[in-house]
Amino acid sequence: MSAVQFRPMKLWTAGAQKNWQLAGYQLELVRDSLTEAVALYTDIPVENITMVDPPIRSIERAIAARNSAAFSRAFAELTTGCNACHQSIGRGFIVMKVPAASPFSNQSFSPQGGKGNDARR
Ligand code: HEC
Repeated sequence: MSAVQFRPMKLWTAGAQKNWQLAGYQLELVRDSLTEAVALYTDIPVENITMVDPPIRSIERAIAARNSAAFSRAFAELTTGCNACHQSIGRGFIVMKVPAASPFSNQSFSPQGGKGNDARR
């Protein structure tokens, strides 16, 4: 789950800086790492896994619309979904929150003006 911890932070940082191209890319990585994490814990009920799907789709729409307010709202919903699953598996002490600042001082999150392909992989 440590990738599940830092990838949303990168997603949030990219979105906060309106770097929508990078945000779209990070969102795919968040999806991948959640899928991988969930595969490791086979006893998680399916409805817990799917509870983060709606917020992830909302984030996707916010990125496509380049809408900061919608992005922040959807990111908060995703965080609620993370915690809802932790609570439902008896790990309510693992509490995620929306990041206050990026700890990644070695990566620039500001938009790079059209470099690279759009985030679809
Ligand atoms: C489908 C259920 C589920 C969802 C959704 C989920 N997690 Fe977890 N999470 C787990 C499980 C299972 C563990 C491991 C608990 C254990 O082994 O004791 C865990 C543990 C963690 C940990 C503690 C591991 C560590 O190294 O400190 C963090 C941090 C974490 N999750 C972050 C997140 C974030 C961020 C999200 C949302 C993007 C998320 N999780 C969504 C089930 C989930």
